[in-house]
Order: sequence, then C-alpha cells, then structure tokens
Amino acid sequence: MQRLEVLARQLTAGAAVEDRTPLLATKNDYDTMYKRSIQDPEGFWGEMALGYHWDRKFPARGHMAANTDIRRGPVSIQFFAGGTTNMSYNCLDRWVAAGRGEQAALIWEGNDENERRTVSYRELLAEVNRLSNWLKSRGVKKGDAVTIYLPMVPELPAAMLACARVGAVHSVVFAGFSADSLAQRMVDCNAKVLLTATGVMRGTKPVLLKTIADDAVKLAAKAGQETSSVLCLEVANALAAADTPWNPVRDVWWHAAVPMQSAECEPTWLDSEDRSFLLYTSGSTGKPKGVVHCVGGYMVGVGVSCRYLYDMRPGDVVFTTADCGWITGHSYLAYGPLLCGCSSVIMGGIPTHPDGGRAWRMVERYKVRQFYTAPTLLRSLLQLGDAWPRQSDLSSLRVLASAGEPMNEHAWHWFHEVVGSSRCPVVDTWWQTETGNAMLIPLPCKWFQAKAGSAGVPFFGVCPVVLDPTTGNEICTTEAEGVLALRGVWPGMMRTLHGDHERFESAYFAPYKGYYFTGDGCRRDADGHYWITGRVDDVINVSGHRIGTAEVESALTEHPDCAEAAVIGVDHALKGQAIYAFVTLRGHVQTSDAMRKLLMDHVRKSIGPFAVPEVIHWAPGLPKTRSGKIMRRVLRKIASGEEKELGDISTLAEPGVVDMLIKLRGK
Ligand code: PRX
Repeated sequence: MQRLEVLARQLTAGAAVEDRTPLLATKNDYDTMYKRSIQDPEGFWGEMALGYHWDRKFPARGHMAANTDIRRGPVSIQFFAGGTTNMSYNCLDRWVAAGRGEQAALIWEGNDENERRTVSYRELLAEVNRLSNWLKSRGVKKGDAVTIYLPMVPELPAAMLACARVGAVHSVVFAGFSADSLAQRMVDCNAKVLLTATGVMRGTKPVLLKTIADDAVKLAAKAGQETSSVLCLEVANALAAADTPWNPVRDVWWHAAVPMQSAECEPTWLDSEDRSFLLYTSGSTGKPKGVVHCVGGYMVGVGVSCRYLYDMRPGDVVFTTADCGWITGHSYLAYGPLLCGCSSVIMGGIPTHPDGGRAWRMVERYKVRQFYTAPTLLRSLLQLGDAWPRQSDLSSLRVLASAGEPMNEHAWHWFHEVVGSSRCPVVDTWWQTETGNAMLIPLPCKWFQAKAGSAGVPFFGVCPVVLDPTTGNEICTTEAEGVLALRGVWPGMMRTLHGDHERFESAYFAPYKGYYFTGDGCRRDADGHYWITGRVDDVINVSGHRIGTAEVESALTEHPDCAEAAVIGVDHALKGQAIYAFVTLRGHVQTSDAMRKLLMDHVRKSIGPFAVPEVIHWAPGLPKTRSGKIMRRVLRKIASGEEKELGDISTLAEPGVVDMLIKLRGK
C-alpha cells in the first residue's frame, strides 16, 4: 500500500458533510419498516439484501428458516439460503466499479501523530488480492481458520478482507492478549496460519507482538496444533526487523512475500450460511466461546444497520475508536463502513496520546461525520477537560455513537453538548458479539426523543422482551423491569459456538425456553425505551472489555500458591467496572505485597494486561453455601463497604468468614 499525500481531494469525493434526505424521516417511517420486519422477516430482509451483490440470488421465499426453541429440536438459523456472495467483493470491488476507486477506504494514523497513511479503495482491493493469493499459496482454503494477531494498522482490515475473499474463517485476537490466550484460541479453531507484526507502540510503551506470537506458536504445538506459516508485518518504531526473533522455515516477512503476489484474485463465491469469522468472547463459565458468524446474514445485518442506525452513506468519513480485536471493530470499523462505501479512520495509538486533543484533531483533519466510541474512552477524555475538544473544529460531526457499556448521564451530556455542540444525536447502542450488529438504538432522527443513558428502541427485526427472572414469564406491560431476552431471529445473529453447539444452546436458549437470553438486565419505560441495567451473570465489563469472572479465577488458581479465588466486578469511575479478586493462599504461603504482584503478573501472562485485578483482597476463607457455592452477592457488598446491607447470610456454611473478610479489606 502506498502513502498518498493528497488527502483532502479524496475526502471530499462524496457527500461528506452537507445535509441530505433523512432515511427515517418520521416516526411513521420507522414504525412501518419495523412492523414489516417483525411480521414478515423473510420478505423484509430479502428486500434489504438486494442492496448487495449476490453471485447467485437466493429465492424470494424459502431462504429463511429458524428454530430457537430447544423444546422443538436443535437451534438453527438461516437467511438467504441458496444465495452465494462474498463480503470482500461487496466491500471493495463494488465501490471501485462504481467509480470510487480513488476515494480513501482507510485513513490511518499511528501512535505518533505524524505517521499517516491513506489507502484508497483501489489500493485496498489490490492489497487484499495479493494477500488472498498469498493465503492460497500457503494452502489456505475455504473453511480453514486463520488467526490474525495484528495491531491497528490498515493491514488488519486488509487481512480480514483477504480471508473473506478466499472463504477462510478469520479469528482476530486482540493484540493485548497474552501468548497463553492467543495459543488457546489458535488451538481451539485449528488455525495453521498466523498473521502478526513485529510489534507496536502503545503510548510510550513498545509491545513486542512477534515474541508473544512465537511463544503462542510453541504453546499451541505443545497442545498438538502445528502452525505452518507465520506472516509477519514490520511495524516501524516498534522493533527493527533485524532484531525480531525468526524461524526461517515457518516465518515469512510480509514485505517480502505479499507485494510479489498478483493484484488480481477472483473472489470465492460463498454460500450465505458459510462461516465468515470466529470471534472469541467471554461467558459466565468456562473458557472463551468462539462465536461463529456467517457470510450473508452478517453482511446484510451490519450493512443495513450502518445505513439506518448511523446514517452511513458513500463518501462519509467514519471514525470508530474500537480495536478490530473486538466485535465493534469488526462491524463498525472494518466491514460496515466499507459495505457503505465510507472512508474508515483507524487510530493506531491511544486516544489520549500525546494529549487529550488527539482524537479531536483527527475529527477535524479528516472531517469525520460519524464518531463511534465507548463510554470508557469518553470518561477519560472528559476528565481531561473541555478545552481539548474546543480547540478543534468539530463541525463536520453529525452522528455520535457509542456502545459496549452503560453510559452515565454525565458522559452522555458531555458527548452531546461539548463534543456535538448539542447538534448531533447521541446514538448509545446496545448489542453484543453474539448479535453481530446493533440491536437497541436511540435513532439518529430529528423526531426521536433520546434520553441520556437509554439504549432506545429496537432495530429492524429485533423483538426485545423483558422476562421476570424468577418465573421466566414475559412482562407484557409497557413499563417493565427484568432480564432482557430476544424473540425470533435476525440475519446478523451468531449461528453457533465453534465446536460446541450444545454450549450454544445451553448458554443462550436453555435459560428461558423459546428466547435468546442476553445475560443483561433491563428496564422498559413508559415510552417503550430500553435501559440496560448491566449483566445478570458472572460476566464483567472492564473498559468495555468483556471478561468472565471464571477466566480470571482460573488464571489465579493456576498459580501454585493460590488455593482458591473468587472474582467480582466493582464500580470504577473510569473503567466502568474493575476486577476485584478475593484470594485464598495455600496454607504455608504468607500474604504480602510481593505475593500480590506475583499473582497480578500471573494473570497478565495468562490472559493479558486488561484482565489484571485492580484489587486482591486476602481471604482466609470464602463465603459459601452448604452446597459449596460461593455467595458473590456477599462478596460484592464486602468489596464496596456495604456490609450493613449483607442481607440473609443464614445459608452460609461458615458465617464467621464474613467478619474476617471485612477486617481484611484494604490490608
Ligand atoms: O452487558 C452488555 C454490554 O456489553 C455486553 C456485550 O459485550 P460485547 O460482546 O463485548 O459486545 C460489545 C458490542 C457493543 C452486553 O451484554 N453493553 C453493550 N452495549 C451496551 C452495553 N451495556 C449498556 N449499554 C450499552 N449501550
């Protein structure tokens, strides 16, 4: 990919900032489309899908089938069956053919603000084709898994698109994960090819990705999974190629192997229900789950959501701050904006480096129209003061989006008033890795009365229900509070968990028969708007990163000095939630700060830096019921200093443990 100097001309290639005909101009427009999407999903989505290229069209009727009620047999979902398509074709070739070849597809800035690169649609297509040909040369075929462990550089979306082009199933692993976590994910999906980089600078800190990748390859081999090829991208400023550990039999330099490939590669036409990608996410128990998304449904779900929910149109400049290692990066940085013919801005560094104005200068520089972020980042930016956003011209902004965790009112108002000058709707969307695309949304329409902190109303095809957690019955009154479940199916929905359809059914469809269980609590207000009240299971959300308490517990107990651990989430002003661990050491081991550090380092090595507990609270014993179940409710109260509200602890096997734990708080 070449550096292009003339940004401005490309960025004005489309209708970047002027106003245009709104898509859902009236409430009636939304109501009519929504109603049709629920009453006739097959017809509705069939028509929506016609906005994309299909090499072989699916039939107008009979393409959709679904069962989400485990009492009626296995859970299965299909959309657009009989049709064949390719997501990379729809993201790239279609726009080049439509005369947008010279428009920026990706606009990248590195950790250093002066590192900039723009990749046009034509250039991205050529790079994707070369990479596709390289994958083929290494024997990668349709259905094979490829692991991608790259920092936020244009080559990351290019790698995803190359997999999509040849029908390989990509598994992007966030470049903040440790060697153990990377290896676990490579083994689980049987990936023989790994794409990585020398390293990356995060703020002032270099992260040596290739070294971590090498360790992961070794660990995978120990578990019986051989890696045949590691393609390594040289990332400037992190580690010179000459200093990078190298295995000449297995390792290949990107700059040596990819440019020599042909820039032409016919897309592999895939069945709509062929696998598109795997993305590992945390559940309340056990190891991470490989969420499986399929080609046609994911493409249509994401593309249509970008159009209607974030108003993305060809030529718009979209800036999503998420990393491609998470679903938001997949759907709203990589695939979605490209499916809509937009220019997608990638920030390679951290948004507060070198100062609090970095993200806002990028908005001004590229005339960003849609800015998509997460509450954690907003909280850290707002802490740095109003002067930073005020120093930049943010008048190009039209839509302010956020997802991933609850947004407190303060952050909402700051986003709306300071960043958006009270002109731009704040689109605080609720969704999940599993749902593929945004599900609940405050519509970015003039008529929509958004409320600070509410996730709004359902997207097309989404039928949210509030269930009573004890009876499992639907609460049918408009105002309701309970657990959030979804009835029916939508195209972007995950199809299974890799290698474990049984877990897919038991985690999502067994808790409340006939519904998809989200794991979230919610409230519906008198206007029918939804408010997410947080997870009702043992999943915590730290800075928008989803972590299962069981994963952190198992990392802690892997340490030879740790006898037992119980992990909970506690409120945290910046991160939303922080990890709080109660740890019981083995009999002979003394508690000390050095021991604390050892355990923290162990979690860092086992999962990654973002999973390190904020607090380790020494626990000579844990509050358990007589059947041995840890009472986390009690631990939450102890951690937050609310021991006066412990509630009924009469079922505890050893009630004395509670007093001991209270005494040890802060010790
Ligand atoms: O608890 C909900 C929270 O994030 C979880 C999904 O996390 P993940 O799979 O990483 O997907 C992130 C993609 C947005 C949900 O179960 N969550 C997501 N969006 C919101 C939210 N909580 C409150 N408000 C939201 N807008």
